[in-house]
Amino acid sequence: MARLVCELTGHERAALCNTGSEAVLGALRIARTVTGRNTVVLFTGSYHGINDEVIVRGTRKHTAVPAAPGILRNTSENVLVLDYGTDESLEIIRSRAHELAAVLVEPVQSRRPDFQPVDFLKEVRKITADAGSVLIFDEVITGFRAHPGGTQAMFGIHADLATYGKVVGGGYPIGVMAGKREYMDALDGGHWQYGDDSIPTVGVTYFAGTFVRHPLTLAAAKASLEHMKQQGPALQQGLNDRTSAMAAEINAFCEEVGAPIRIKHFASMWRTHFEQDHPLQDLLFAMMRSRGIHILDNFPCFFTTAHSETDFQAIIQAYKQSVLELQEAGMLPRKPAPVATGMDADKPLVPGARLGRDPSGRPAWYVPAPGGEGKYMKVES
Ligand SMILES: Cc1ncc(COP(=O)(O)O)c(C=O)c1O
Repeated sequence: MARLVCELTGHERAALCNTGSEAVLGALRIARTVTGRNTVVLFTGSYHGINDEVIVRGTRKHTAVPAAPGILRNTSENVLVLDYGTDESLEIIRSRAHELAAVLVEPVQSRRPDFQPVDFLKEVRKITADAGSVLIFDEVITGFRAHPGGTQAMFGIHADLATYGKVVGGGYPIGVMAGKREYMDALDGGHWQYGDDSIPTVGVTYFAGTFVRHPLTLAAAKASLEHMKQQGPALQQGLNDRTSAMAAEINAFCEEVGAPIRIKHFASMWRTHFEQDHPLQDLLFAMMRSRGIHILDNFPCFFTTAHSETDFQAIIQAYKQSVLELQEAGMLPRKPAPVATGMDADKPLVPGARLGRDPSGRPAWYVPAPGGEGKYMKVES
């Protein structure tokens, strides 16, 4: 299974655990072990699971404060929270690169799927490579889902370490760390064996778990990976294209009826974006539910290859009907009906008449007033 992970992602080595959060924990621990540095950068808007250190909010001074009760204040002392995708953040990373153990990114944030700052990520890749800090791509959502090689393959960026989970487990609990040999070797000392004079090549840290490499999970993950390998990138691409088409159809509909709602998506991940604030707009989800489509309110949604064309059609129909129902109930604005004037500027009522507006704003025909240079009079019909 680890060999398949490496084959599909292009990483040199892979190690397994039970959740995406564990994979993030392991990747950060590896980064600190190998670099001997403490500070980790992460970005506003990202989600990296439930480890204390990543449940933080940034401050104006870019320090991190715990974002949930029960997390010690000093847990976040070694975390720097920067805005995602800005030049200012690049400048800060550049100026502190040599003290950074790692930069941890969720390349396309599930909270903001339409934001794909590829140039920013490429620059972060360059800065971290030059400074010997570890670039970690958290691909727990995007890995294997958007493309067999995740966003790294899509954007042409090779992270030092990457974390995976979710789809690769085929429904079973899994986390995967994969990356360059020089970093992954911190989990086992690299290639060495008893019986000859080989010894661990790097310092080794501790990482373990009772259910790590559970046989059921391994069987499910291997089956998933073999399926993905056999189908090739067309498997994910087909689903990505279908998702794009659905987003385009719903967005065109919302535009047409004047509803300030848009579907934002990346690959097969999508979410509802309210372009304005209307207090009862979240009832959209209840209205969808009453039509048999469950979306956890304001959370991202994911299509899988198990969704049929009938499912797509049912979702699209329910979505459109729910939007209309919201509008009819006055909970969302709608486009005012066009005023039927019955007047066409190219077909004047009398020869030479021009279309204008009368003092009350209503369209009306005007002809030049006799004797008055530049003056017009209304044609009473
Ligand atoms: C980007 C990302 N990283 C890490 C995690 C944590 O994974 P898990 O819930 O398996 O611990 C998640 C979960 O949603 C995630 O979206």
